[in-house]
Parts: sequence; C-alpha cells; structure tokens
Amino acid sequence: MLSKLDLNYLDSVNNLSIKNLGLTGANPSVACLIVDYKNNSQGVVLSYGLTSKSGRPHAEINALNKVSNYQINNQTTLYVSLEPCFKANSCCAKKIISKGIKRVVISSLDPNPQIYEKGVNFLKSRGVKVLLAGARQNKFKHINKYFYNFQKNQRPFITLKLAISKNHYSKNLISKNVTQEETQHYMHKIRLKHDAIIVGSNTYQEDNPKLNCRLNGIDKKIRPFVLANFKIKSKLPQIKFNMSNIENFYSIINKHKIQSVLIEGGIKTFKNFLINGAFNEVVICQSSKMINKSKKRYKLDKKLIKNRCKKIDSQEYFKDKIEIYKNV
Ligand SMILES: NC(=O)c1ccc[n+]([C@@H]2O[C@H](COP(=O)([O-])OP(=O)(O)OC[C@H]3O[C@@H](n4cnc5c(N)ncnc54)[C@H](OP(=O)(O)O)[C@@H]3O)[C@@H](O)[C@H]2O)c1
Ligand SMILES: [Zn+2]
Repeated sequence: MLSKLDLNYLDSVNNLSIKNLGLTGANPSVACLIVDYKNNSQGVVLSYGLTSKSGRPHAEINALNKVSNYQINNQTTLYVSLEPCFKANSCCAKKIISKGIKRVVISSLDPNPQIYEKGVNFLKSRGVKVLLAGARQNKFKHINKYFYNFQKNQRPFITLKLAISKNHYSKNLISKNVTQEETQHYMHKIRLKHDAIIVGSNTYQEDNPKLNCRLNGIDKKIRPFVLANFKIKSKLPQIKFNMSNIENFYSIINKHKIQSVLIEGGIKTFKNFLINGAFNEVVICQSSKMINKSKKRYKLDKKLIKNRCKKIDSQEYFKDKIEIYKNV
C-alpha cells in the first residue's frame, strides 16, 4: 500500500512533469524523483529528472545519472509519473536494476498497448517492489492528456478555441483582437501544449496570423496548417477533408505523426468541428467588453457548446473570462 509520504512524493513528481509539457516531442513529459529514507523517515531527495526536451534521455535516466550506486540502498525509492520503459537493449527499467533500486512507485501504467505493464513486469521479475497509484491519485493521464488520448484512441487530441466578446461576437470589424493581451499570452501557453495549430482559410487570408508559439525563453515548434478547399496563396501545408467523414481528418493528421491539434478558428471552422463532435475540449476566452461592429454570422450561440459539453473549468483571467469544456 502507498503511504501518505508516497502520495506526497507522487504529487511532487506529477507537478514536476508539467515543467516540460509540450516540449518533449512524441514522448510524454515525465518526471522522476529518487528519495532516500535511510537517514530521515520523511525521505531526502537525492535527485530528480525530467524527460529531456528532445524526448530523450528519459526522466529516470536523467535522475539516475545524478546519483552514484553507493548512495542507493534498500531504503531508496524511485518515484516516477509513468511506468519505466522496457526494451531489449538499453531502457529505463534496466538502468533502475543496474543502479540497485529496490522500490519503485509509479503514477500511471503506459497507455501504449505495446508497452503496457512490460516495464513493471520486468522490474518485479528482478525482485523490485513496484507500487502503483490508484485511479484517483493518477494525475499523469490528466497532465499528459494529449499523449494519453493518442495512445488509447490512436487519434489526435483536438482543442477548439474561440475568443468572443461579452455579447458573443468572435470578430470585431474595427480592431483585430477580441480579448486583452494577457489572454492572448494565455493562449500561447495553450499552443505550447499542442503539436499543431490549424485555422480556416478565411482566418488565414484575412488576418495573416503568425501561428507560432511566442513565449519568452521557450523554443516550441508548433506545426501550422490551413484548412482550405481551394489552393490559397500560402507556404503552409493545406488540408482538405469532408467534415462528415472526420476519420479522414484523423488519418491526415496521424500521417504527420501529430498527437494534438489546436483549432484556432474562425467561427465557421470552430462550429464545423463542434457540431460534428470532432473535439476533446473547447476553450472559450470571453472579453468583458462588447463588440458593436460585427456581423451576425460571427456570433456564437453558446447553446451549441452547452448541448454538447460539460464545463470543467471557469476562471476570471485579468479582465476576461476563460472557460474550458469537455466533450461528453
Ligand atoms: N475570435 C476568435 O477566436 C477568432 C479566431 C480566428 C479567427 N477569427 C476571425 O474569424 C474570421 C474568419 O472566420 P470565418 O468563420 O469567416 O472563417 P474560417 O473558419 O477562418 O474559415 C472558413 C473556411 O475554411 C475552410 N475550411 C473549413 N473547414 C474545412 C475543411 N474541412 N476542408 C477544407 N476547407 C475547410 C473553408 O474554406 P474554402 O471553402 O473557402 O476553401 C471555409 O470556408 C477572421 O476574419 C478572423 O478575424 C476569430
Ligand atoms: Zn524510459
């Protein structure tokens, strides 16, 4: 059974894993802590590791490389947010054995069916005590929801975003931005977590958006695409598919090895995905200001969301409001 201390360390390891989220390529963002209980019943952290920015080395290797074998004893525990990988050649599970770790506490099994339980079974076969968090303590699948969804369903995690005014317009005919600067910064943090960003052809042609991730000190390469039925003047890859056959969209995206997609409008594209149920989450950024110069077709009927989604978060964000819904 997991002790209260184990649960606290698991919480820390899950929180740490957020640091590199969106920066680890096709790999999930994992964290690892090595804790020694020999001289302190509360445990002393010997080292920590995160999945590297390129995806490799993995978190366990980064943590284990910072401790020497003589620091590890039979009261050392390795905490990790995802089951250690196991492969015939070099892998985290083998490194754990070679370092002499005798107890491993894991937040989540690997959702990839080809890897699921392999690491755990190998560790157990070598006499390591392996403990797994219960469903309620397993935060890995919420933090790495993009990776988790892809592994489980073999399709991308789709987030639909729309910024609207207090009176629900998604476009202002006078000025470009609907929400304030802080909210746009928030949206760059959402971009950071996705592999690709997609806009409709009208948005691309009318706004000429940069479709990149602009966060100080963070080098994130998000892949931009434009949805268009006809060839438009653009260097970006164009995607075309029939909305009534969404599987087509998934297979186009899967060919690009993309696990998560952020659909950033405009409203026609937003509604297309929403009405066809082709999404996991919806992010609505609502301004506290009215838009007086717009067109009816840019107005969002919030019932479209309420009828299909469950609100999972709502926060005042400076003077705006950010609401997150999930597909039900
Ligand atoms: N408030 C916000 O969050 C937000 C975000 C982005 C943009 N905007 C604003 O919204 C305005 C544009 O919105 P909009 O509703 O007019 O258009 P839009 O959604 O940007 O673009 C719609 C067009 O995208 C193409 N498209 C969509 N789905 C497709 C598919 N499955 N396959 C191929 N092509 C597909 C079609 O182009 P064709 O059939 O013409 O090829 C369609 O007419 C912009 O001016 C911008 O300022 C607001
Ligand atoms: Zn590994």
